[in-house]
Amino acid sequence: MLLDIIKNRVSPVIFDKKELTEEQITTLLEAARWAPSCYNEQPWRFFVIKGDKDIRQKVMNTLFGTNPIMVANAPLLLVTVAKRKLDMTGEVNAYSWHDVGLAMGQLGLQATSMGLVLHQMGGFDHARVKDILKLDENLDVISVTAIGYKGQEADIHESLLAKAAKPRSRRALDEIVTYL
Ligand SMILES: Cc1cc2nc3c(=O)[nH]c(=O)nc-3n(C[C@H](O)[C@H](O)[C@H](O)COP(=O)(O)O)c2cc1C
Repeated sequence: MLLDIIKNRVSPVIFDKKELTEEQITTLLEAARWAPSCYNEQPWRFFVIKGDKDIRQKVMNTLFGTNPIMVANAPLLLVTVAKRKLDMTGEVNAYSWHDVGLAMGQLGLQATSMGLVLHQMGGFDHARVKDILKLDENLDVISVTAIGYKGQEADIHESLLAKAAKPRSRRALDEIVTYL
């Protein structure tokens, strides 16, 4: 059942250094690409940071708190970007971030189904990443996501042990749903 994959997806605090294949990466991006979007504008843009060590280090340097330690081993960083204005009218697209989130949701489930893991991060300096990637005004940086294989529990950095031990939880349905 798809719900099993949804519940099994987890944001790990340790990655393995194992590389992803080109085919795996393409499959993940395909899952994202087929997401629905407002007016089918497909406002998502993806920057795959894998081979360019200089860019990778620059982006790593923008991460806040324990994020750089957490994703240090991850073989791939994906920067998600949203096109701010609609191609159709030039107006601001009120759903651009929503739609990028949908695409990332699909990518996350595809990754889980392939035995891969990802950790999305909003904790980074957005302006610096925008600068590093030389993005114009019409493009918003949304997240930096580490993707790869889950690492060994024994290798978890001490600053992340408490986070790793915390049980995953969600609000109960009756807290978030209103039936009318
Ligand atoms: C947009 C977004 C930003 C996030 N930013 C961070 C972050 O900066 N650092 C971090 O450790 N986790 C980050 N997370 C991961 C969440 O904390 C995590 O998804 C949540 O605790 C639920 O855990 P789960 O993904 O294992 O179910 C982010 C998740 C999303 C979707």
